[in-house]
Amino acid sequence: TVLVVDYGAQYAQLIARRVRECHVYSEIVPSTMPVEEMLAKGPKAIILSGGPSSVYADGAPQASAHLFETGVPTLGICYGYQAMVQALGGTVARTGRSEFGRTRMEAAGTDTVLFGGLPTVQTVWMSHGDSVAEAPEGFRTVGSTESTPVAAMEAPDRGLYGVQFHPEVLHSEHGQAVLRHFLYNGAGCRPAWTMVNIVDEQVERIRARVGGKRAICGLSGGVDSAVAGALVQRAVGDQLTCVFVDHGLLRKGEVEQVEKDFVAATGAVLKVVDAQDRFLDALAGVSDPEEKRRIIGREFIRVFERAAREVVAEGGADGDDVEYLVQGTLYPDVVESGGGTGAANIKSHHNVGGLPEDLQFSLVEPLRELFKDEVRRLGEELGLPSEMVWRQPFPGPGLAIRIIGDVTRERLEVLREADAIAREELSRAGLDRDIWQCPVVLLADVRSVGVQGDGRSYGNPVVLRPVSSEDAMTADWSRLPYEVLATVSNRITNEVREINRVTLDVTSKPPGTIEWE
Ligand code: XMP
Repeated sequence: TVLVVDYGAQYAQLIARRVRECHVYSEIVPSTMPVEEMLAKGPKAIILSGGPSSVYADGAPQASAHLFETGVPTLGICYGYQAMVQALGGTVARTGRSEFGRTRMEAAGTDTVLFGGLPTVQTVWMSHGDSVAEAPEGFRTVGSTESTPVAAMEAPDRGLYGVQFHPEVLHSEHGQAVLRHFLYNGAGCRPAWTMVNIVDEQVERIRARVGGKRAICGLSGGVDSAVAGALVQRAVGDQLTCVFVDHGLLRKGEVEQVEKDFVAATGAVLKVVDAQDRFLDALAGVSDPEEKRRIIGREFIRVFERAAREVVAEGGADGDDVEYLVQGTLYPDVVESGGGTGAANIKSHHNVGGLPEDLQFSLVEPLRELFKDEVRRLGEELGLPSEMVWRQPFPGPGLAIRIIGDVTRERLEVLREADAIAREELSRAGLDRDIWQCPVVLLADVRSVGVQGDGRSYGNPVVLRPVSSEDAMTADWSRLPYEVLATVSNRITNEVREINRVTLDVTSKPPGTIEWE
């Protein structure tokens, strides 16, 4: 494993992903973790992430010199680089000259570990205030920019490397190559982490864990739970029952897709529970977003618990209890809940499947180590249909949080149709893999005048919210082709009588969140 030491949330995630893209497994650890504990994980390499703007800032985390004497090859990036320089006796100057964005860097030559075989002049992405004026003793300066004399350094004999720029962001032209050079040439890692290996390894692990016991998996219609279910099914077959709760807030065709495609692809035992009335009754008259989330979370748990009891009751003569609950928890969820010190509660995300402790199942979370794009590739490896694997993420509370106002059957029906049209056209235009998702939001309490057919209409608007993102933590609005937008707009206003206006949300995240509620 490669440890990515986290000096500041977002950078570490991205670095971990890039390392994995080199087919090397990586894991994020907090910068407060004692060095001994890091070593106990047997890392092949350590990468120190970027972080706060200055090593001189109040409370800025330091790196202990001990970290660089372990013999484990280490790469410092941005803040991690400066912390390394400071710990080893180099000079970090408070120049007051910051570099931000695309910067021209000159590499010292092509005989270096980090830049071997790459052009000597390259564009790198910078984001820092202080800069390294002098490398610590024993280091060779291997890159410099106009404002930063020592923009990259290495001491291959000690296995220590550092770069001021961010190799993990795509704006750094050869960033991925620099990471690869560090991992393969500097640290001797091998590209052995592949989807086939992951499937085999997980199947083994799940079998060992579950043994002959019974398990259930709550499907949400989303990618994660489907892949988790498929993986566990492959490991333990009919010992697993998948439970799909139809809460009436699903996308068009979702129930059918799970009933047909998922079962066909996996051979899983599936139990579909129709709980539409129950959810819609509980939601009647509620327009507050957090209240909606609370109600849906609560009802879901109740329905799921009952379904679990039924699964046990139907369990045949031996009627074994269900011991395990399979969940599609992803790596970012794990990191976020572990490292959420001082993080503001923006929305009470609950994965459908976020169940109370007293449910008394042991959790099986086979995707805990993976990012979303990795889960998708795993899904393909498991033979799930690509419409299922590449579908847009869909929030657990479903269409309820895309109706601004209270939730009724009629409104759901309207939104479901509009959403289906948008999805169909985006797929037809081949944009599914370019965008992260495109919520369609119904402004149910807003009405505007239009002219539809021969007469005046007084209908509701919908908002298209297409976003591009790597992990949903930040996002930008997608610049969809006008032609596609035009088609979506035409079709929605023609085919969904209640909607007479289609608008486009052009807000990034932050400041907007992806969903409107
Ligand atoms: P926001 O709106 O917070 O959304 O920018 C980020 C991502 O999370 C999804 N989302 C949810 N997923 N339960 C979920 O399982 C929720 O309550 C929930 N709220 C938002 C959203 O679709 C986006 O992909």
